[in-house]
Amino acid sequence: MTDSSQNSLIQRLPKAELHLHIEGSFEPELMMQLAARNRIDLRFKTLDEAKAAYNFSNLQEFLDLYYEGMQVLRTEEDFHDLTWAYLQRAAQDNVRHVEMFFDPQAHTERGVPFGVVTEGILAALARGEKELGVTSYLILSFLRHLSEDDGFALLKESEGWHDRFVGVGLDSSEMGHPPLKFERLYKRCREMGFKLCMHAGEEGPPAYVREALIEIGVDRIDHGNRSMEDPALIQILKDTQTPLTNCPLSNLSLCVINDLKDSPVKAQLEAGLLVTVNSDDPAYFGGYIARNYEKTAEALGLSDAQLITLAHNSFTASFLPEAGKQKHLAAIDAAVA
Ligand code: ADE
Ligand code: ZN
Repeated sequence: MTDSSQNSLIQRLPKAELHLHIEGSFEPELMMQLAARNRIDLRFKTLDEAKAAYNFSNLQEFLDLYYEGMQVLRTEEDFHDLTWAYLQRAAQDNVRHVEMFFDPQAHTERGVPFGVVTEGILAALARGEKELGVTSYLILSFLRHLSEDDGFALLKESEGWHDRFVGVGLDSSEMGHPPLKFERLYKRCREMGFKLCMHAGEEGPPAYVREALIEIGVDRIDHGNRSMEDPALIQILKDTQTPLTNCPLSNLSLCVINDLKDSPVKAQLEAGLLVTVNSDDPAYFGGYIARNYEKTAEALGLSDAQLITLAHNSFTASFLPEAGKQKHLAAIDAAVA
């Protein structure tokens, strides 16, 4: 199949995005607009200056810039505009459902109230469903470089909104902050009925994925690349069909892999794992979801059937109720018929 007909298949496939940090969809154009609106000085004066800085050799270098950029987000309107811009862009790629991470501690720490952040995002999500037909769930993400007590404080601060989150996540600097640092917090979140997600095995060793999966009992592993170093772990992931939310262009930008040809996506598909393709922080890593599918397909020589499986997996791995999953799976079948 030619690249262009495969790209049109990718475009046509209804997709779910399961690994997306809303603050990582902050395009420099919008960042500069909001900086001006809020009268905040940004280190970058031009788009070219901003884009020149988007050159990372590891996760921490990216995170430093990611936290810097989000400082210009101050008002409910800012969070709405950020989220609305993402939803419109995702809809262009035929994303029909998104499960979105947000990092409240990165905002409350600098004095922006939890309610301002959350209400702004929720307003845009409601608008996305109404105007674009894109459904969404919000996932409250804890910053793992902070303490477990800080996580408990966030859980308390967010009490008035708990029914608005489908689950919790764990992101930020992975090395030195293993899943078990948050064992009590995750136990509490499980008791409260939240779905459990965790970034694991992006930079961290397979042992971190094991902790997340076996000791914490997460529902989904974000990234999980380094699971592939541990054959027994691969078998567990296969047997339990625990979803992995892979992010190929992110992996390439953060030097988790040196070349897209080294992406584990094809090997994971062939091993029978429930792998999905996602964009992570698309404004920083050079592409939204369709481009992640396209570049991965091109580098790995994915077949059309494998692309269709990835779209299927995106809904199967979602937190949608069974009937919702079936509706989207049928729409994929109709789109490729
Ligand atoms: N926060 C935003 N993107 C992230 C990533 N890829 N890994 C860890 N934390 C993140
Ligand atoms: Zn991520």
